[in-house]
Amino acid sequence: MTTHAEIVGWGKYVPNKVLTNHDLEKMLETSDEWIRTRTGICERRIASPKETSATMATKAAFAAIEVADLSPGKIDLILTATSTPDHLMPSTASLVQDAIGATNAGAMDINAACSGFVYALAMGSGSIAGGIHRNVLVIGADTMSRVMDYTDRGTSVLFGDGAGAVVLRATNKATGMLASALGSDGSGADLLWIPAGGAKHPASTETVQNRMHYLRMNGNEVYRFAVNVMAKASLQVIKDAGLDLEDIELVIPHQANIRIIQSAAKALKIPIEKIFTNVDRYGNTSAASVPIALCEAIEQARIKTGDHIVLVAFGAGLTWAATAIQWGMPALPPHLPWWRSMLHRFRGQEAAAKSLARRTSRKIPR
Ligand SMILES: CC(C)(COP(=O)(O)OP(=O)(O)OC[C@H]1O[C@@H](n2cnc3c(N)ncnc32)[C@H](O)[C@@H]1OP(=O)(O)O)[C@@H](O)C(=O)NCCC(=O)NCCS
Repeated sequence: MTTHAEIVGWGKYVPNKVLTNHDLEKMLETSDEWIRTRTGICERRIASPKETSATMATKAAFAAIEVADLSPGKIDLILTATSTPDHLMPSTASLVQDAIGATNAGAMDINAACSGFVYALAMGSGSIAGGIHRNVLVIGADTMSRVMDYTDRGTSVLFGDGAGAVVLRATNKATGMLASALGSDGSGADLLWIPAGGAKHPASTETVQNRMHYLRMNGNEVYRFAVNVMAKASLQVIKDAGLDLEDIELVIPHQANIRIIQSAAKALKIPIEKIFTNVDRYGNTSAASVPIALCEAIEQARIKTGDHIVLVAFGAGLTWAATAIQWGMPALPPHLPWWRSMLHRFRGQEAAAKSLARRTSRKIPR
């Protein structure tokens, strides 16, 4: 019998702090009108000083495992897609694993920038279909505000912070993840990048003075690339899944720019009503953008059991990724008895508190 992977839990977290276009007008030579007409973005969320990719990922993960009604000990693998990890090492996934008490899980990060969550979904479902794992927690989390140069109006108005997560579970039903397509063109590496902080340009006075730890981008080139790959990748997974365009009920694209999304819809020849967008409220949250949008599509009852949906993303690398899914779950989370939901929360908080206590009391050997 063939094993499939299906999404059985989902959750998101966005920071409370809202940075509006009007706030940016006070910081930069820009205007609400310019940002809205060129990008569709009205506001974005910004992490508090205490929040990081790991803390946001942890909150999204708790929400997802609660919907999946899964005890953390049953998670086999945690994949965190991020290009703003808390540290170069260890992985953000390992920090999440500890914080949620997933004591039997392997953990690693995947860096494919804004395409990362769709990459991680493909890896997670592959490991389930191959019989290696049964329950995989897939997270997309990014704290883009930490790598923004708020003196650069060409980039800093575009990005925001957040996290989204799903639980993938093995099933014998022919449903769930149907087909994935992943791509990369590294010849465009310097069109969207953070030049310093890695092995090539480790942190130094010079790299800091030259602002090399901030994201840099050639917006026009990235725009052209994005429109081209979004339609191509979507059509490929639709075909590989044995579907026709008319079978697709909803496309959830990476939320980078409303004009990119509209152009991709036109290239795909799909009505704009079948495309989910929330870029106006969050901006580009990088690897978190697709899972946050997926969660909101579910919250807004835009996905029903049996629907065929496509997730598609592009990003630094340059990379792109798409996946076709048949939604197997009831769209709204199954009603959990109040005591079970409390138990999940309590277990989660207890695990997080223990982990924090362990970390703060640990003596660093000299
Ligand atoms: C960045 C982007 C919005 C720029 O839009 P655009 O219509 O191509 O604008 P241009 O780059 O041609 O710039 C037009 C003018 O606006 C100016 N400008 C750039 N950012 C501005 C801002 N925030 N506010 C006001 N003016 C701005 C430019 O300096 C330029 O001025 P000039 O004509 O005097 O030189 C667009 O190229 C884009 O979205 N690219 C893709 C980016 C992306 O999605 N990246 C993430 C990928 S995961």
